[in-house]
Amino acid sequence: MHIFTGSSYPELAREVADHLGMRVGEVKLAQFANGELYARFGESVRGGDVFVIQSHLSIPDGMSINDFVIEQLIMLDALKRASAKRTVAVIPYYGYSRSDKKARSREAIAARMIADMYETTGVDRIMSVDLHTGQIQGFFDDPFDHLTALPLLVQWIADNTEAADRVIVSPDAGRVRLTEKFAGHLGAPIAILHKRRDPERQNVSETLDVIGDVEGKDCILIDDMIDTAGTICGAASLLKERGANRVFACATHPVFSGPAAQRLDTSVIEKVVVTNTLPIPEQRRIDKLVVLSIA
Ligand code: R5P
Repeated sequence: MHIFTGSSYPELAREVADHLGMRVGEVKLAQFANGELYARFGESVRGGDVFVIQSHLSIPDGMSINDFVIEQLIMLDALKRASAKRTVAVIPYYGYSRSDKKARSREAIAARMIADMYETTGVDRIMSVDLHTGQIQGFFDDPFDHLTALPLLVQWIADNTEAADRVIVSPDAGRVRLTEKFAGHLGAPIAILHKRRDPERQNVSETLDVIGDVEGKDCILIDDMIDTAGTICGAASLLKERGANRVFACATHPVFSGPAAQRLDTSVIEKVVVTNTLPIPEQRRIDKLVVLSIA
């Protein structure tokens, strides 16, 4: 068995390898002057069971999510051509997962398109964590291990809040099932927020109403990802307006784009609990952040 990492987040791959008592294999990753990417494995993988870990993210002024997707595809292709027996794409955060259907006419389904690109490499298995929608598994013909960070997040909440005061809150209709599962683990009631997206502007939404009893409660918001933090901060403000005591935010993927860190820092949220499916650069590490290891 071999573990390799793309260049998006090598620290996570090393953490995974440490847990397994293994080392991360040698691969040369480079970029040509025109931006094209290159990979060459520094050791034989013939007949091997090979895992390639790569989270889909963008580095400000550096490689983009698109580069990291292509880099992982090039690695998977090289592995097949080097006679690896089985290749596994480990994608802790799956990019484009929010483009899982046509919400409006004349749009693409980018999550499906990305899946098709992976299939062309002859990959044998995919692993990912808390997909935006579970149906994305069906975009692949191969086995898909859909892992969840739920037990980690639940445990932190169990250890840091009082059972009698909790209510688990879904920030929108899409997270109700996840909220039910989270609440099920803790034996807590749930509340649901009514969120409306602006169809003309990406990443812009408004939280309009609360369904459920939140007055005097510790509200635990649970989402798959925090991107610009508009959703979670808007939700937290409304919960406070409706009489919530403390508000905690839990999410698997700290995408943290643009204004996210500043919004979270100045928000009414007590603690923001996330995992390390994505790296968080130093300048976005606010005091109220708790990062749990998915490794
Ligand atoms: C939406 O359906 C997702 O589950 C997240 O709530 C959303 O993508 C988070 O984005 P932002 O942090 O930019 O509001």
